[in-house]
Amino acid sequence: MNKPFGNSKPRTGLVAVLDLGSAKVSCLIARLAAGVAGDRVSARVVGIGHQRSHGIKNGSVIDLDAAEATIRSTVEAAEAMVGENIHKVYVNLSCGRPASRLIAAETETGGREIDDVHLYRVLSPEILEANKPADHDLIHSIPVGYSVDENRGVRDPRGMYGDRLGVNLHMVTAQTSPVKNLKTVIERCHLEIEALVATPLASALACLVDDERELGTTCIDLGGGVTSLAIFCDGEPVHTDIIPLGGGHLTSDIARGLSTPLDSAERMKTLFGNVIPSPSDDAEMIPVPLIGEDNDHSETQVPRSVLVGIVRPRAEEILELVRDRLKASGFDKAIGQRVVLTGGASQLSGLAELAADVLGRQARQARPRGIEGLSEAVSGPGFATSVGLVRYAVENPLEVAGSDFQPVKERSGALGRFGQWLRQNF
Ligand SMILES: Nc1ncnc2c1ncn2[C@@H]1O[C@H](COP(=O)(O)OP(=O)(O)OP(=O)(O)O)[C@@H](O)[C@H]1O
Ligand SMILES: [Mg+2]
Repeated sequence: MNKPFGNSKPRTGLVAVLDLGSAKVSCLIARLAAGVAGDRVSARVVGIGHQRSHGIKNGSVIDLDAAEATIRSTVEAAEAMVGENIHKVYVNLSCGRPASRLIAAETETGGREIDDVHLYRVLSPEILEANKPADHDLIHSIPVGYSVDENRGVRDPRGMYGDRLGVNLHMVTAQTSPVKNLKTVIERCHLEIEALVATPLASALACLVDDERELGTTCIDLGGGVTSLAIFCDGEPVHTDIIPLGGGHLTSDIARGLSTPLDSAERMKTLFGNVIPSPSDDAEMIPVPLIGEDNDHSETQVPRSVLVGIVRPRAEEILELVRDRLKASGFDKAIGQRVVLTGGASQLSGLAELAADVLGRQARQARPRGIEGLSEAVSGPGFATSVGLVRYAVENPLEVAGSDFQPVKERSGALGRFGQWLRQNF
């Protein structure tokens, strides 16, 4: 995210990130180094672990023991590559029905020069608390633009004169109990959470190029159990949303529809699946192993058109939900003619074409970018969230509700840690 919310003191050294996906869990350890000028930070991945996910369904922890075991061995694999243990992790958050809301706050400045005290007043934690649903935890609170009187789009209002200072804050909240389960499983692995980052925000940080962020673009991450979207406008994330449907639902539709084991359904989907029918589909026969006893290798054959007939309606359903959520976000008109698709399930043949059709926009498929050292195996769209978490660490946005922003009662000194936050951010 753009200055002034990026920390002016770049973060360097080792960082670790954990993507708790519904299909796979992955851990990246990256070394962050400041450039020669000391400003731009680069990231190089030095440790990688990833494996099939257990105990996580549609982004939520549903089995603490299974999730803990998966995380532990994933982290150990990454640590082994680096030869160092990690203690803190950036973790993605897909659970607890994360919800975005934009709130506008305003304070009188009486024609005086705007300073830190005015900023503190308008970014007050009490305002966040008052706008947060009672049973939700605050995950992000990102200032996305200031106004001084009638002038909007002000990046740093300090030093300006005006009667009123306004701020638009993007809050992301999630239900407390699922977030607690997520935190519990991480603690059980003896890891500390450096920051929770909404999954779609992380994926967008890895996949949107600067122009897309500025001009307004939606990044859609089609995962195994959830499909999530993040909207960027004027360089800032203004909206996120998560739908609890993903590629895994296509797989189970195939398994049910053709009475085939889930592993075979998964293979059929990736090898022969397509959401755009072709005239040759009726003639092309696909082998279908049937569910049965261990030694029973019965198999049948179906035309490819049957497979297309199973996967296409589900893919359409997911994309139609995305379209509805985009409309409901209120940013439908502001986000231009482009969507960016990522996540493992975005690789389904024909999906970009179908997305363009359903969403009425051009669709670009994106692999994660912006960090070095990714091997071929972990540079695909399924790793957008992991890479985005590293990008989040690189951009190091200190948010109003972040760990560096303490509520008033916990502050010491006149402006305390808020003053420090301001000094770091402006
Ligand atoms: N080539 C392919 N064609 C179609 N689908 C694919 C392909 N490769 C992977 N997938 C699907 O992508 C999904 C996994 O995507 P991804 O790795 O992004 O999920 P995840 O991050 O673990 O889960 P989530 O983000 O939903 O919690 C699976 O449903 C898998 O079947
Ligand atoms: Mg994912």
